[in-house]
Amino acid sequence: MIRTILTYPDPDLKKRSTPVAIINQKTRELVEDMADTMYDAPGIGLAAPQIGVHQRIIVIDVAGKDDPPELIAAINPVIVHAEGETFEEEGCLSVPKYAANVRRHAKIVVKGLNVDGEEMTWRAEGLLAVAFQHEIDHLDGILFIDHISQLKRDIFRRKYRRSLDQEGND
Ligand code: NI
Repeated sequence: MIRTILTYPDPDLKKRSTPVAIINQKTRELVEDMADTMYDAPGIGLAAPQIGVHQRIIVIDVAGKDDPPELIAAINPVIVHAEGETFEEEGCLSVPKYAANVRRHAKIVVKGLNVDGEEMTWRAEGLLAVAFQHEIDHLDGILFIDHISQLKRDIFRRKYRRSLDQEGND
């Protein structure tokens, strides 16, 4: 089921999510909804708080449009190793029509659980590494715009507010 994606400045996006204690059928349904919502948007990642559920769950799929899907669902993901640096353009389903370059680690190792409750280790670099860091940030109430300079953020806020106003007037 496709859920509604919360958008900035919804205060629910700033809240910290809590770890999942028990993985059950409800968790799997939530993950399915998250994947449906991400693919429908379309996006390459989604965190549970973006649909108003404050549990530490993310879904990611960085496979190309014409490639078969490669869904990663990570529950209670934690970055256990990070190295290198990258500075790539990012966007976010919760911050529509805006993109900015963000400094991230180039290579990371993430540990967490899959939907069957099994312990997983994901080794990621490139776009996948960026996606993991972006989505895990969401679980701590951090948006990619929180990583850009104050000056850029001020410009963003002004532009964003104006575009929201315009939509309201349509
Ligand atoms: Ni995002």
